[in-house]
Amino acid sequence: MAERFYVTTPIYYVNDAPHIGHAYTTIAADTIARWHRLCGRDTRFLTGTDEHGQKVMRAAAKLGRTPQEHCDLLHERFKALWVKLGVQYDDFIRTTEPRHQAVVRAFLQKLWDKGEIYPKDYAGWYSTSAERFWTDDEVAVASWQKAHPGTQGSAVAPAEPVADLVAKLKSGALSPVCPDSGQPVEWITERNFFFRMGAYQDRLLAHIEAHPRCIQPDNRRNEVLGFLRKPLEDLCISRPKARLPWGIPLPFAEDYVTYVWFDALTNYVSALGEPGGELHARYWPADLHLVGKDILTFHTVYWFSMLMALGLEPPRQVYAHGWWTVKREKMSKSVGNVVDPMRLVDVFGVDATRYFLLREIPFGYDGDYSPEAALLRFNSDLVNDFSNLVHRVVKWADVPLAEAGQLGELDAALLAAAERATAGFRVQVEALQFRDALEALWELVRAGNKYVDSAAPWALAKAGDTARLAQVLRALREVQRIVVSHLACVMPATAADVLGRLGLSAPDLRVQFDVLAADSTARAGDPLYMRLDAEPTLAALGVVPAAAPAAVSAPKPAKEPAVSETAATPATITYDEFAKVALRVGLIQSAEKHPNADRLLVLKVDVGEEVPRQIVAGIAKFYEPEVLVGKRVVVVTNLAPAKLRGVESQGMLLAAGGSEIASLLMPLHEVAAGAVVK
Ligand code: MSP
Repeated sequence: MAERFYVTTPIYYVNDAPHIGHAYTTIAADTIARWHRLCGRDTRFLTGTDEHGQKVMRAAAKLGRTPQEHCDLLHERFKALWVKLGVQYDDFIRTTEPRHQAVVRAFLQKLWDKGEIYPKDYAGWYSTSAERFWTDDEVAVASWQKAHPGTQGSAVAPAEPVADLVAKLKSGALSPVCPDSGQPVEWITERNFFFRMGAYQDRLLAHIEAHPRCIQPDNRRNEVLGFLRKPLEDLCISRPKARLPWGIPLPFAEDYVTYVWFDALTNYVSALGEPGGELHARYWPADLHLVGKDILTFHTVYWFSMLMALGLEPPRQVYAHGWWTVKREKMSKSVGNVVDPMRLVDVFGVDATRYFLLREIPFGYDGDYSPEAALLRFNSDLVNDFSNLVHRVVKWADVPLAEAGQLGELDAALLAAAERATAGFRVQVEALQFRDALEALWELVRAGNKYVDSAAPWALAKAGDTARLAQVLRALREVQRIVVSHLACVMPATAADVLGRLGLSAPDLRVQFDVLAADSTARAGDPLYMRLDAEPTLAALGVVPAAAPAAVSAPKPAKEPAVSETAATPATITYDEFAKVALRVGLIQSAEKHPNADRLLVLKVDVGEEVPRQIVAGIAKFYEPEVLVGKRVVVVTNLAPAKLRGVESQGMLLAAGGSEIASLLMPLHEVAAGAVVK
């Protein structure tokens, strides 16, 4: 790994309202930048806004502003969001800035001088409404459909061969229309400027094959290779100013502006100043361009060939992540399903929002957003696991630490867990697998919680064993330091808070139990995260409660948990959906009959937390309460609590079989209470 690290996000269209898709890329970039900074690398993180083009010009005109005034106002929305999301970029570039325009023009001039750009007359069907050219075939199909009402805009194929329709278009027998708007199109000839991208086809293929890591994940690299195996056309890099005045003028033809993608891609270099300057020498080629999968071709085929033509190295890696959908649909203003990241921050706080977005879906894949999933993550991972551990440690703030020394068996096992977890975290974060990185770290959080159970500091205090108590607290505070130091790249404010409680001013990644000074003190403070109730939280996230059904019959009594007899196979679910169910091994500590229901038993089950859970189960018919005590079972621990005949149940036991042959599920070996089942 290079000793410096330069990471970029796409520059966002200034006109669009920022949503979680934008937040996602930027948080991922911020996390990886923070990680490299934490590891002591010379890190640079660039983001910005893409401000030229037709849409910006139109939106500004509608509002009676100049395009520049419009961009000056709107780009602030992105800056404000990055502040709110704790994003620590080193530079924010806007394509309307003179420093950017100068580099774009210098690049164009260089390519023009080298003969890499040439003028060509282009003739085609031009649609004023869509402001673009269409091919013969596209216009032929649209025109046939327009002439056959009911087929317009559909997938219905024309009854005649497309070649015949094109001939009719040319002879005037068919009126040409725009496939987008159905409005008439005109055959026009226009002079434009083209970049000889086609000439780079073989060099691009050779480069990508020789540098397999330069496009990731692998399936995306294969897509690009597939694209490059078809003939590669030259790229039109100009638009006549008469049609589109809002852009960077070509230095060799001032009545043209630069095509927005040529303009926008250059930001990654222009933000470093003129090539040859100090910043450029220090940071180019970029180590990582993070992009969404929709803009991968631009960032590889277009961008790599532009750089090759300019004699600059392509970036070391372009990584395409997947898309967030809502109910499996693309987010869009017109559907009205756009998720505002500001709202998530208002409900969960900044660090929990960052955690959720990175923990929920594997980086590189699409994933579906749901407020319920966000709530579940919050209550289970952050409240039950993480905050619980922090609280259980800092509440012993007054106890002095033991001198670092020989570790007991339990302490050594915890240190080994820390080594495993942090090694996994490092590898996964550097591979941008944030979800797996966090999962690895959470193994340590859970191991920490288990250690508290086993080492039982409260019992040591009660027994007056101050020497062992001081050792236990050293192990625990060191583990806490290790967890939050690693977590600082994802949850910076939370990490700073916990480090402060431990008397530290900065993360310290050393995986050792001899870092904290024996005379160091800790500070207790409020719990970091408190359980959020479903109803108000979901309401705050915009979930409208389902309407009560019309009262056609008496309402059914709440169902008691009985062992299901149904063998119907439900629709398949993804691993992610399955992973939402938190299953743990539980040790039954007590069992008794329910005071108001013959079918139910009330159990106390240790699932690795400080206090055992109370679980009401519909198994009275199958088990005498006393035979259950001491048995290990499988518990669903993240089911919302429910009252069953007046007694609260904080989970559910898994069981197999129908009403006569029920059997609780038990692990084959004596796994510790709280062990994760997956
Ligand atoms: N301006 C261009 C990028 C130019 S970079 C030289 C652009 N801007 S964008 O604002 O439309 O999109 C920016 C990024 O947001 C893209 O990487 C895109 O993939 C990402 N996302 C937009 N919607 C998204 C989701 N729903 N989910 C995840 N990311 C998505 O394209």
